[in-house]
This record gives sequence, structure tokens and C-alpha cells, in this order.
Amino acid sequence: MTTHLMQLAGVDKSFGSTRALKNISMLVEPGKILCLLGDNGAGKSTLIKILSGYHQPTSGKVYFENEEVRFASPREARQRGIATVHQDVGSIPLMSVGRNFFLGAEPKTGVWPFQRIDTNFANREAVRQMQKFGLTRVTNGEQLVGTMSGGERQVLAIGRAMYFGAKLLILDEPTSALGVKEAAMVLKMMRIARKNGAGIVFITHNARHAMSVGDDFCVLIQGEVAASFSRGEKSREDVLNLMAGGELLSELEEEIEQID
Ligand SMILES: Nc1ncnc2c1ncn2[C@@H]1O[C@H](COP(=O)(O)OP(=O)(O)OP(=O)(O)O)[C@@H](O)[C@H]1O
Ligand SMILES: [Mg+2]
Repeated sequence: MTTHLMQLAGVDKSFGSTRALKNISMLVEPGKILCLLGDNGAGKSTLIKILSGYHQPTSGKVYFENEEVRFASPREARQRGIATVHQDVGSIPLMSVGRNFFLGAEPKTGVWPFQRIDTNFANREAVRQMQKFGLTRVTNGEQLVGTMSGGERQVLAIGRAMYFGAKLLILDEPTSALGVKEAAMVLKMMRIARKNGAGIVFITHNARHAMSVGDDFCVLIQGEVAASFSRGEKSREDVLNLMAGGELLSELEEEIEQID
């Protein structure tokens, strides 16, 4: 039997009288990038909050590695290997790269009760990992996270999740605030994570970014799956049309011009 990484079957989520998600069925596979697309208010954040244990579905079933789960908290989801990287990355600007990388899982040195954080190891290891992912500009683990660029912070956050064995990476608009080069760096990092066998849910408004790395695509419109398809099943034009709704259209037209 194939092991699916995560599966939603007929998931509904209501907030009072608002039905944010309606009968969502979705499959996330290991070693694949699933792009979650949709306009503002479509339900993307609500959906990832269900995957990451922040919300519980009103009805429907959630499976992780083929086993039905009902996460009571984000912590429970994290313990199963589900890592969420938010747009702002949540890193503390005045913290060093080494400390940030090992936050909550600090390596210790010495013998109890004289244990302390092994800062040397943390700094060295964090830099080694970052270099592995192509962040060659970071050479000192003492460097403050606040002095890194947005893309570098995303790479740090994703690298950290992978280092601690994340099986599912949920990335909420990781490239939206970035310039072209920076976005390319993050997209490359996502490819590395995929190659290492992680499943990735990639939320984006950017059709070009989605098309450049996506294996599978799921388009949400007003809380419903409006389309779900795999790479190659639809043309770039079809995807753009599917994503295009109202205010997004002008943004997309700009994008299309850039592609041409
Ligand atoms: N905690 C909540 N309480 C009440 N309503 C909510 C809550 N969270 C989301 N909603 C509603 O659910 C719907 C979907 O919102 P959601 O944030 O999931 O959309 P989104 O696709 O992430 O949008 P965006 O692209 O703007 O981030 C919206 O109508 C929103 O107002
Ligand atoms: Mg959102």
C-alpha cells in the first residue's frame, strides 16, 4: 500500500455562520510540492491551520501517513513532523543564526547541573547546514538574524525544519515579499527539501513561482476545491485563468508580460 503523507477527506470548517472550508479533499505526497492557490479569503490559511493542528475540522477526516489523526494542538502536529514556516518567519532579529537554528532544541555541553548551551556547536553546525543549502554568505553563526535578507531567513527556517526531520513542510507565501533573486533562492531550497523526501504545501499568489516548482496544484475558490490537477495536465494559461479573479487579474497580466 502506498503511504500518502497527508490526506483530507470531506473536510468542512465553519466559524459561526461562515463556512470557510467546504468538503475539501486533498492529497499531499512525500517528495512532492503541492501548490495551494486561491484569492484572498479563499480559505488557504484556514486549510493550513487544519494541517498544522491549529484548527480542528468541523467535520471530515484528516489522515497523516495513512492513519486518521485529530491534532489537539500545533505541538502535536509538530511532534509528528509537520513544520509550518510563516511569511514573517517568526525569527527573532536580535538572535544569532546559531541560537535561532537550535531554538527550542539547544545542544548542551557539560555535566548536569553545570550544563550550558553549546554555543560553539550551535554556531558551527548552523553555518554548516546553511552552506549546504547554498547560503554561502552566512559564515559566522554569531551573525544576527536581523541582518539577513528575507530570502535568507526563509532558507534558514526551511533548513532548520529539515534538519529536525520535518516530513511535511507548510510554507505560507514564502516568496511573496521577495525580489527575483531571493525568490529563486527559496524556490531552490524547496527543490532540495523535495529531493530529501519531504512533502511540501506551498501557498502562493504567484503563478510563476507555483509553475516553476509545483508537482500538484489545488485551487481554492470560496472555500471549495475549484480545480486540482498535476503538472503537465493543464497549460500555464489555464492555470493563470483559474487563478485569475478580480483584483488578481492585473497582477497576473503583469506577470504574463514578464514571461513573454
Ligand atoms: N478565526 C476566524 N473566525 C472567523 N472567521 C474566520 C476565521 N478565520 C478565517 N475566517 C474566515 O474564513 C474565510 C477564509 O479565510 P482565510 O484566512 O482562510 O483565507 P485566505 O485564503 O488565507 O486569504 P488570504 O489570501 O487573504 O490570506 C474568510 O471569510 C475569513 O473571514
Ligand atoms: Mg491567508
